[in-house]
Amino acid sequence: RWKMQAFVEQTVARLREQIGDSRVICGLSGGVDSSVCAALLLKAVGPQVACIYVDTGLMREGETELVRHTFRDWFRADLHVVEAGQRFLAALKGVEDPQEKRRIIGNLFIEVFRQEARQIPNARFLAQGTLYPDVIESGGSADGPAATIKLHHNVGGLPQELGFELIEPLRDLFKDEVRKLGLELGLPEEVVWRHPFPGPGLAVRCLGEVTEEKLAILRKADAIFLEELHKSGWYRRTSQAFAVLLPVRSVGVMGDGRTYENVICLRCVQTDDFMTADWSRLPEDLLARVATNIINKVKGINRVVYDISSKPPATIEWE
Ligand code: XMP
Repeated sequence: RWKMQAFVEQTVARLREQIGDSRVICGLSGGVDSSVCAALLLKAVGPQVACIYVDTGLMREGETELVRHTFRDWFRADLHVVEAGQRFLAALKGVEDPQEKRRIIGNLFIEVFRQEARQIPNARFLAQGTLYPDVIESGGSADGPAATIKLHHNVGGLPQELGFELIEPLRDLFKDEVRKLGLELGLPEEVVWRHPFPGPGLAVRCLGEVTEEKLAILRKADAIFLEELHKSGWYRRTSQAFAVLLPVRSVGVMGDGRTYENVICLRCVQTDDFMTADWSRLPEDLLARVATNIINKVKGINRVVYDISSKPPATIEWE
């Protein structure tokens, strides 16, 4: 604990010196790294920080509210929430290919972020929640192949062409240290222990074309799954968990009638580094509860399946 306190004191002093009286932009994604990065900056130069959060419309249930609550209500930060859902949906219309979806989302994200950043007067710095493993993965430079994959999708990877000087206060830390730091800075456990969420968000879990209707179904099913994991204590015991909306329909019965509706797949994995992963052996009764709840509560779903593939050869995401 004292080590974390010392880290905070030293970093805060260094940040104050570096930033002077300029303004700093912090991109928030709702994830752990960007949240901790922002909390650290807020502690160092509070009123000079402008946080930007882009709601792509591809977020999970309650995500935008959690960011608002944490940063606006609790930290009293100057938070800019950009509601860009309709722009993303329009750009994704008719697009089925996963990589194409990523490309469109990544490019539009940067454009929307840039537009908002330009509105902030006096901004000289851009803070990113880059961690030590990200530095390694990209070969220590911002243009390694791994960096190119991430650049397009993560807030923690906005290109320097935005014209700001980069600040990366978490560069020397591993994930577990970042979580400790987050707690030290007063971030809620819900934020600190959040599973990772891909930059393209629900778009890559809504297989095939992304529509508002499909997103609504997926978001609801996903929320039910995560809620049951939290309630049973399994969320913290797993590395990543989510629902995927499959683009197939199957036959079911409901009362006297026959249904012909979509399938939700539940994915839950254990992993240390996300390069390899094993599927989580969730208790049967937990899975049963989730399935029943989803089928009863989510209109348009009549079947739930559980993904028991490991990585490799399967990936964690479906797209
Ligand atoms: P895969 O599916 O490749 O996922 O086994 C490994 C980890 O990376 C996340 N992921 C992404 N994160 N942008 C991101 O920021 C992306 O396009 C992307 N694709 C996958 C995935 O959620 C998992 O944690």
